[in-house]
Amino acid sequence: MKKIFTESKTFYGFQDKEVSDETLIELYDLVKNNATSFNCQPLRIIYIKSKEAKQRLKPFILETNLEKTMNAPITAILAMDLSFFEDLPRNFPAMDVSFLFKDNADFTYQTAFRNSSIQGGYFIKAAHALDLGTGPMSGFDNNGLDEEFFSDLNWKSNFLCNLGYGDEDQTRPRASRYEFDEIVKIL
Ligand SMILES: Cc1cc2nc3c(=O)[nH]c(=O)nc-3n(C[C@H](O)[C@H](O)[C@H](O)COP(=O)(O)O)c2cc1C
Repeated sequence: MKKIFTESKTFYGFQDKEVSDETLIELYDLVKNNATSFNCQPLRIIYIKSKEAKQRLKPFILETNLEKTMNAPITAILAMDLSFFEDLPRNFPAMDVSFLFKDNADFTYQTAFRNSSIQGGYFIKAAHALDLGTGPMSGFDNNGLDEEFFSDLNWKSNFLCNLGYGDEDQTRPRASRYEFDEIVKIL
């Protein structure tokens, strides 16, 4: 299991092999049980799989990310629901905390962004645990994409993630990582 932390790499290309819907369901089963504040679970996922859906996505992708996105078997939109707090009575029955978010757009946004990003990290590692390769991307037009896919929802895109069975020839050599002593303090 440690290998998914020590040996995983970002993939810029994928094998010509479909990712089944069963695998996508299994992937979410791994993501969903992990922690978020107040168990708020703001992450929402749209899988862009069909040619038609990829064409809808295309105008919003940064030029440098375009080819790999159009060629990936799936591009996941990892988004956050800014109305997540409406479900807190169901998701956090220990106490009613939805009042913290009502009329507090800044706190709501920060909580949604923090927790959907953490869930995005769970998503990437869960994909690796299922032997899928990932290519996360923040290079796209968030507002344009949101208008195209979420115009009737209170959702905002966080990041995109190309997904498939990775092509080992389409990765980069591991770049420098900080050593423990460089970035960690034990006080
Ligand atoms: C949130 C996030 C956004 C990223 N955005 C892009 C992107 O827009 N385009 C791209 O080519 N790579 C993108 N990357 C990939 C990183 O550059 C890559 O993961 C990093 O260089 C480490 O490479 P490695 O995983 O192969 O060790 C992104 C990664 C993350 C986690």
